[in-house]
Amino acid sequence: MFYDVRKKNHGLPHDPFKAIVAPRPIGWISSLAKNGDFNLAPYSFFNAVSDNPHLVMFSSVGWKDSARNARETREFVCNYVGEIHEVQMNETSVPAPSDIDEAEYAGLELVASTLVKPARVKNVWAALECKVTQFLEPVDADGNASGNVMVFGEVVGIHIRDDAIVDGRFELEVTRPVSRGGYLDFGRSGKKFQMLRPEWKK
Ligand SMILES: Cc1cc2nc3c(=O)[nH]c(=O)nc-3n(C[C@H](O)[C@H](O)[C@H](O)COP(=O)(O)O)c2cc1C
Repeated sequence: MFYDVRKKNHGLPHDPFKAIVAPRPIGWISSLAKNGDFNLAPYSFFNAVSDNPHLVMFSSVGWKDSARNARETREFVCNYVGEIHEVQMNETSVPAPSDIDEAEYAGLELVASTLVKPARVKNVWAALECKVTQFLEPVDADGNASGNVMVFGEVVGIHIRDDAIVDGRFELEVTRPVSRGGYLDFGRSGKKFQMLRPEWKK
């Protein structure tokens, strides 16, 4: 099948786009408002965008609390979503008023971060402490505003649980990340395999 995206003529019950661009990692973003209100929410429009420096990005459909807090206080933390936290991660996506602490709502404990003010979720396998570098409000191919906000940050500190490290490596088969698909789908991708990089042979 083929469909013209702007005509939405896929004939399917739901738009398949997010199921195709999948699995997406989930950034579980903690942030602070200017008045000190704590916020925690999952974002699957999330990824690393540069290794050196370590840069990450999450994208908000409109100025949700996480993006607004990042604008106000210029810091956020990306908490790692392993299977051990899949249910609580989802609970923190509740559309609560901005003065509600979603961590408390989901029964999560927090611990202080080291280089940034927003706390991190206790017992996550890893947490990336970030300082905001820029915002981008992406446009469509005609230059029209999309209404989305991309928040970029430099990772300035990384916490890793000691038991996530096996033979010196952050071990996927221990940390068992949860990812997002389309619809109500999530993925569990805690299985890995290796491939060597190809050599160029003329
Ligand atoms: C797994 C998952 C991934 C999500 N990814 C996004 C996303 O990438 N962008 C977005 O705007 N909302 C996303 N949401 C919805 C937000 O988490 C939800 O709107 C939340 O209430 C926003 O919280 P905030 O206003 O406190 O930032 C996602 C929800 C779930 C459960």
